[in-house]
Formats: sequence, C-alpha cells, structure tokens
Amino acid sequence: SNNDWHFIANKAKSLVNEAAQQIKKSLKNERIVEYKSNPNDLVTEMDKQIESFFDEEIKKEFPSHLILGEEGAGKEISTLDGTVWIIDPIDGTTNFVHQQRHFAISVGIYEDGVGKVGIIFDVMADELFMAVAGEGAFLNGVKLPSLNEAIVKEALIAVNSGWIIKDERLISLVRDCRGTRAYGAAAIEMASVCANRTDAYISLNLSPWDFAAGAILIKELGGKITTVEGNELNLLKPSSICVAKPGLYEQLQSHYFNRK
Ligand code: IPD
Ligand code: CA
Ligand code: CA
Ligand code: CA
Repeated sequence: SNNDWHFIANKAKSLVNEAAQQIKKSLKNERIVEYKSNPNDLVTEMDKQIESFFDEEIKKEFPSHLILGEEGAGKEISTLDGTVWIIDPIDGTTNFVHQQRHFAISVGIYEDGVGKVGIIFDVMADELFMAVAGEGAFLNGVKLPSLNEAIVKEALIAVNSGWIIKDERLISLVRDCRGTRAYGAAAIEMASVCANRTDAYISLNLSPWDFAAGAILIKELGGKITTVEGNELNLLKPSSICVAKPGLYEQLQSHYFNRK
C-alpha cells in the first residue's frame, strides 16, 4: 500500500483532539436539538458541525480518501475500495443532549475493507483509545494488555434494556451473567471491553460508524467481534453485533445465539 499509516494515524488523532475541543467549547451554549426518524433519534448542530470539520480536513489533507459518516458525509459510498474513514462525530448524542458526558468521537480507517486505524475518544473522560493494526492498542498512550479469557457466569455484559425485553436469547444471558451495564454510546461500550472494564457488548442493531473504530481496537486486543449470529461484519450496512473477550465469545455463540 502507498499509505503511511503512522502519518495518517497521527493526523487522525490530532483531528479528533481538535474536534473534542470544539465540542467542549460548545457546552457553554444551549444545544440545538432536532429529531431525525423519531423523537428518540436526536441530532444537534454539533453532530453536523463536527462531521463537516472531519470532511473538510480529510479532503484537504488526503484528497483521494473517502468518508462515510453518520450525518451524511459520503452517502454515495457503495464499496470499501480504497481508503475510507468511517466516522461517528458524536456517538451517544442522547447522552450529549441529556448529560453532557458519556459521548465519544469514533473514527475507523479502512483500506480495501481492512481495518488500519481505530480511534475512540471519550471526550469528557479525556480517554483516547487508539490502535494501528498490528501495533497494539493504547489508552492515552499506555499500551493495553491483550484481553484475558472470560466466562458468562463471571461476566459483566453491556446490553441495552430495550434489546433485553425484546429478545429471549438476551433474557437467558442476562439471567446467567454476573451483571449488565449500559453506557448509552456504542463506541464507549466497545472501549470498555478494550479497557477490561466489561467483558462483552451486545447490540441488535448498529450502523457501521458505531462499530468501525471499535472493531479495529477489539481485534487488536485479541477480542472477537461479529454479528450476533456469528457472521463477519459488513461495514456498509447496519447489523447486530456481538463483541466479547476470547472464550466468552465462543460461549455466547454456542449457548445463547447459535444453539443447535
Ligand atoms: C447510538 C449510540 C447508542 C446505540 C444506538 C446508536 P448515536 O449512536 O451508540 O448507544 O444504542 O444504536 O445509534 O446516534 O448517539 O451516534
Ligand atoms: Ca444518531
Ligand atoms: Ca453512533
Ligand atoms: Ca452519532
């Protein structure tokens, strides 16, 4: 490949830091909130502003790179050929609106569909998770250890209550595991597995920008990530996801999601 991944990763990291500053600054003003598909699907002017910021800066620095973002950047993308930045400008918009914390910026960079750079920045916690494929994953510059094996009965599993009440498989999993958590931002749920704070994260419907960066970080640490049914993720369409530590992932698949 012609890409210099260290250069790109550093540029991505400084854009993420700059974006975080813009979001923090905006907190002293009221948030202007609109509904998208329904009253629980929020978007603010900051979601759009941050995505435009990435869009403009990436086009300036890397004119051949493509962008796929939640708020409409790169709507025309239909393949993952070339270098594609998959961006969620604010993951956890509901938290941003209601709590002004527990939201993240998520940036995953792929080359011909292969994950190369993953960054998740929990803005108010000041925690930057970053991985360059093959070089380990880091939290604020400190290398994270590979994920240890886990088992259901000792596991903390992140899953939204909205999914639990709709799905028998999740009801029995919730009964069997040690406890559940729900932070309200998919990128933070995945970063939490990376940091060994939880053991798994299950969602029945996410979009590519929710998991693009997290998938790179998780794989770098020896974790597993597929759809709930165990299929490989498709970065061009919405899907369920099952993220888990080694051992636990296989147990989730064989005992809960793919019982034969
Ligand atoms: C949402 C969050 C949330 C998840 C939703 C996502 P957004 O992203 O990640 O935790 O449950 O499915 O859409 O809209 O806040 O970027
Ligand atoms: Ca959204
Ligand atoms: Ca999101
Ligand atoms: Ca978002």
